[in-house]
Amino acid sequence: MTTTDRQAHWENIYTTKGEAEVSWFEETPTESLRLLQLVGAQPSSAIIDVGGGASRLVDNLLAKGFENLTVLDLSAVALDSARARLGDKGDAVKWIVADVTEMAADRYI
Ligand SMILES: C[S@@+](CC[C@H](N)C(=O)[O-])C[C@H]1O[C@@H](n2cnc3c(N)ncnc32)[C@H](O)[C@@H]1O
Repeated sequence: MTTTDRQAHWENIYTTKGEAEVSWFEETPTESLRLLQLVGAQPSSAIIDVGGGASRLVDNLLAKGFENLTVLDLSAVALDSARARLGDKGDAVKWIVADVTEMAADRYI
């Protein structure tokens, strides 16, 4: 499957379903938050949510004071949705639309 095909697949999902209609929706991503605590993540830690979509993990991390956050996803629709939900708070987050299997990481540093 090409990046274009993958992107079309995910854009279609995020365009046709509401945030809470997808099977993976979590109001609070408890397990991800627990794992970040387990590894000792600090508010200054650089954290990237790969395949973050429209997840509320970023909302929860901002609320806990994390300040070096990036969300990467193939779907611009999903990232736009998360960004719109966050309002001004979303300005503090780096948003990257990319295929993680194809991207040149140094382009985003
Ligand atoms: C099952 S959803 C989970 C989304 C989010 N982590 C959450 O919990 O709400 C999988 C996500 O991975 C993204 N994704 C799939 N393949 C990807 C790839 N190769 N590069 C970047 N994102 C990808 C999709 O666009 C989708 O947002």
